[in-house]
Amino acid sequence: MIQNNLILFFSFTGTCKRAAALMSHEIGGDIISVKTKGIGPFKIFSHIRRLKKDKPIVILPEDLDLKKYDTICIGGPVWYEKPAPALEDMVKQLDLKGKKVILFLIGSEWGASILMLKEMVKKKGAKILSMMTFKSSDSNNAMTEIIRNHVKMMQ
Ligand SMILES: Cc1cc2nc3c(=O)[nH]c(=O)nc-3n(C[C@H](O)[C@H](O)[C@H](O)COP(=O)(O)O)c2cc1C
Repeated sequence: MIQNNLILFFSFTGTCKRAAALMSHEIGGDIISVKTKGIGPFKIFSHIRRLKKDKPIVILPEDLDLKKYDTICIGGPVWYEKPAPALEDMVKQLDLKGKKVILFLIGSEWGASILMLKEMVKKKGAKILSMMTFKSSDSNNAMTEIIRNHVKMMQ
């Protein structure tokens, strides 16, 4: 069973937030949505520019204490066939040494995004338990089915 779980995600238009809520319902765990730095209407391009310049995009909560958690679900959207810049920046800022991690990515044209995210998380010293992919068009029932199948495989 997965215990002491945290679901940490970035969502721009709400789909990853919906998936995170369903994951919490199925697996349990606290949910934290990361905020991004104050950037205006051209958020998408600002994110990409910031990442290129190695500037932070994500603001992690000040009181985020990963020591409390054994398992961390990390997720966000696919942008231009890569993990969204905010998701990449979030992973960069986390100390995942010794953590068990469940990844979730939402999109439909994946490119190499899944492998890229896996590599980023592995480099941070985490053990990947599972990698869930959802389509933004998936219904809540379809997402729940995917989560349940992954949970079964992890047992
Ligand atoms: C800037 C941008 C680029 C995107 N690029 C892709 C892409 O390459 N492949 C894909 O499958 N979806 C792409 N999408 C769609 C999102 O991955 C999809 O809508 C996702 O569900 C959004 O999650 P969110 O609602 O939590 O932000 C893109 C969306 C945006 C805003």
